[in-house]
Amino acid sequence: MAELDLQPVDAAALTALQPTDVGWITCVLDDFESFIQDHASAEKKASGMALSMVAHYPDQAALVQAMVDLAVEELNHYKEVMGLLMAKGMTPAADRKDPYVTALNKLVRKDSRFFLLDRLLVGAIVERRGAERFGLVAAHVQDPKLAKFYHAIAKSEARHWQLFLRLARDLCPNLDVDKRFCELAQQENDLVARLPLRAALH
Ligand SMILES: [Fe+2]
Ligand SMILES: [Fe+2]
Repeated sequence: MAELDLQPVDAAALTALQPTDVGWITCVLDDFESFIQDHASAEKKASGMALSMVAHYPDQAALVQAMVDLAVEELNHYKEVMGLLMAKGMTPAADRKDPYVTALNKLVRKDSRFFLLDRLLVGAIVERRGAERFGLVAAHVQDPKLAKFYHAIAKSEARHWQLFLRLARDLCPNLDVDKRFCELAQQENDLVARLPLRAALH
C-alpha cells in the first residue's frame, strides 16, 4: 500500500491512550461482517475528511500536499477492505452514524484561531485510537492473511496520528499544541469508557 514518509514524533509527554476494553475484540470477532463493513466506511470517511481539509485550506501548501497523499492512502485502504469483504462473500453496508467521531467533532472550537488546530488534533486522536484497535484485530484474528492486513493497517494509522500532530505543531506555532492534544486525549479516553461496545471500529 502507498505510504506517507514520516519520522516518529516525540510523544512521550502526551496523555497516554487508555487501552480499549477487552470486551471490544470479542464483539468484533463475534460479528466480523459488521466490523468490516464499518471499517470500510471509516476508511472512506477518512479519505473524505482529508479532501475536505484540502478544500478548506487551499493556501496551505504543506497541508494540501499531506492531505492529498493521505486521501489517496485512505482510499487505498478502503479499496483493500472492500476487496477483503467481497472476497469473503460479505455484502457492503450503508455508512452508519459514528457516535465517537460525532462527539469528538463537537470538541472542535469554531473560533478561527483554534479551528485548524482542533481539526488536526481530533484527526490525530481518531487515528491514534484506530491504530490501537486495528492492532488488537491483527493480534486476535485467526486468518493469517487478515492478521497481516490488519497489522499493516495499524502501522499506517500509527503514522497518520503522528502526521496530524506534526502538522499541528508546524502550522500552529503560536498555540500550545501539546497541551490541547492532552486535553482532547483525556476527553477521548473518557468518551471511549462511556460508549457501548459494538462490532465497529468505535
Ligand atoms: Fe486508513
Ligand atoms: Fe488513517
